[in-house]
Amino acid sequence: MASDVSLSMAASRPPSPITPDDFELMKKTALFDHEDSQYLRMSYEVLAGQVEAVLDVWYGFVASHPHLLASFARKRDGQPDPGYLAGVRKRFGQWILDTAAANYDATWLSNQFEIGRRHHRTGKNQTDQVEAADHVPFRYLIPLIFPITHTLKPFLASKGHPPEQVDKMHQAWVKSLLLQVALWSQVYVQPGDF
Ligand code: HEM
Repeated sequence: MASDVSLSMAASRPPSPITPDDFELMKKTALFDHEDSQYLRMSYEVLAGQVEAVLDVWYGFVASHPHLLASFARKRDGQPDPGYLAGVRKRFGQWILDTAAANYDATWLSNQFEIGRRHHRTGKNQTDQVEAADHVPFRYLIPLIFPITHTLKPFLASKGHPPEQVDKMHQAWVKSLLLQVALWSQVYVQPGDF
């Protein structure tokens, strides 16, 4: 579900250039089905009380890699902008819950297009009104899927679910991230090539 925290410009946002039918074919390509939506929703209950702890791990990962932290650097002195990091962190927390809620409808598709834009020079820095690095390089988007989903697994396992359910929740997260980052890529791809 779209949230005020994560995507406050919802009213003015155009629909996604990808239709729900297009997205169905992307889901089929990733073997994402109804069961994955169910396991994502199971993960909602598991993760709801752990969002800040998950963000501590993910932010720790970004902060410990200067080439990633550079995307949060101020233009004027090259230092990470704490206000920017904090603003994005709030939206990131909501995104965890939106991903797990798995209501991947037309509004959600339109939100994905917006998240892509916010990584790209056409939309970055606008939400937080910061003067930071212009653009998140596309080459880092896809590889970050691994650390994000790998480090999530202990959190998925922490509420005592049997290992096969933890694996299925984890797999559903991997598929969802592959689909989302594919959607976010659209703004980076030459017109007509997506
Ligand atoms: C699997 C890959 C990634 C995921 C799941 C992810 C997730 C997110 C989310 C949920 C947001 C907040 C979106 C919103 O405004 O509602 C965000 C923003 C942001 N991410 Fe990523 N991200 C990924 C890759 C990267 C990479 C590789 C970088 C570069 C270091 C990066 C840097 C940023 C920055 C700078 C913002 C703030 C953009 C703005 O100005 O609004 N992200 N990301």
